[in-house]
Amino acid sequence: MVLSLPEKLRRSRMVVLISGNGSNLQAIIDACHEGHIFGDVVAVISNESSAYGLNRAKNAGIEAVTLPHKDFPTRADYDSALSQHIDGFEPDLIVLAGFMRILTANTVRQYRGRIINIHPSILPLYPGLNTHERALADQVSTHGATVHFVTEALDGGPIILQGRVKVLDNDSEETLAAKVHVVEHQIYPKVIAWFSTGRLGMREDTALLDDTPINLRIESSD
Ligand code: GAR
Repeated sequence: MVLSLPEKLRRSRMVVLISGNGSNLQAIIDACHEGHIFGDVVAVISNESSAYGLNRAKNAGIEAVTLPHKDFPTRADYDSALSQHIDGFEPDLIVLAGFMRILTANTVRQYRGRIINIHPSILPLYPGLNTHERALADQVSTHGATVHFVTEALDGGPIILQGRVKVLDNDSEETLAAKVHVVEHQIYPKVIAWFSTGRLGMREDTALLDDTPINLRIESSD
């Protein structure tokens, strides 16, 4: 589907931050190319030089920047360099897609309302790391992923959209991660499409879709 939009709307410019494989990045690039997102990934920045997502960016003709955190003495120094790079691309939206670094409160505040993250659990369950392992240990029947605005609260910003998968008795961390990825690749482009057409925003600590607070939105892949 190609969106037809009022002429005053221009395509959103997005900077995507990654640390690894970049399968979510790929889903976003594909959604831009297919016209589902009214915007473009203008740059990809990784804190890991070996991140495969950097190749995905180059293959799509997108500027790929490596900014290793190890080169900076403090988190604040790193974030200040990161912000300079981000701002140089004049993005409308900053997309964290498997970016495995905690940003300083200053950086988060700077981009308030235009920085989003995807997290591999149904928040507020399992913030932080090793979410699949923890879900399996708890023998939950449902797991999934959450897209949320980034605020100072780690994995605690206003929720925009969640995707759910069933957990089966024979699931391993790997099979569960694969299922969660499938749903991530559905919900992240969808949220970014909303943003790109001006439908999504944040007021105080609430996510708004079409000016209406989003209370709880869960999609299921099964
Ligand atoms: C995704 O599952 C994402 O939810 C997770 O990293 C993976 C990146 O996959 N993010 C976090 O854990 C952030 N705390 P990808 O590189 O293939 O997109």
